[in-house]
Amino acid sequence: MTRAIYPGSFDPITSGHLDILERADKLFDEITIAVIENPDKQTLFTAEERVSLIKKCCKHLKHVKFGSFHGLLVDYAKEKKATVLIRGLRAVSDFDYEFQMALTNRKMSPNLETVFLMTDHKYSYLSSSFVRHIAKLGGKIKGLVPAVIEKALKEKVKK
Ligand code: COA
Repeated sequence: MTRAIYPGSFDPITSGHLDILERADKLFDEITIAVIENPDKQTLFTAEERVSLIKKCCKHLKHVKFGSFHGLLVDYAKEKKATVLIRGLRAVSDFDYEFQMALTNRKMSPNLETVFLMTDHKYSYLSSSFVRHIAKLGGKIKGLVPAVIEKALKEKVKK
């Protein structure tokens, strides 16, 4: 049984994240999506809202579980008995940061292996902050996020 963890801010989850998850769902027995509760980072959606939105987008995925965490990721991975840490790579610009993070996590937890999945080329430019930004300015986000997120974003930015 190989358990994996897919961490991130997911503010909100995008079609790019979902693409990574759909592919990971075929590779691992169990994947926990771990939403970071970061009090230092101001988010548009609360951690509970982010988890609830992710759940609505992942109903078709058999191996996916949901959670949120604060503190060190390696500790949360241990708690979940995960041996694999999944990260998506969009472009070369992601590499430095991801490389540093993978090495640091390995130093702290040698049994947790980081596995990188390449994002689909359609989403290589996509990020949650771009999506938030476009939504706030009233632009079209169809296709960049699942329909349920599109609706939630429109409602959120209206407030
Ligand atoms: N498709 C679309 N967007 C993607 C993507 C994909 N496949 N992969 C990453 N992104 C985007 C995200 O939307 C996000 O965009 P934004 O910054 O515009 O909002 C950005 O890339 C960052 O991605 P995310 O996966 O949310 O990473 P993060 O840097 O916010 O968080 C953690 C990374 C949570 C894994 C890391 O901060 C962590 O582990 N924290 C816990 C503390 C800890 O253990 N620290 C030691 C780590 S060495």
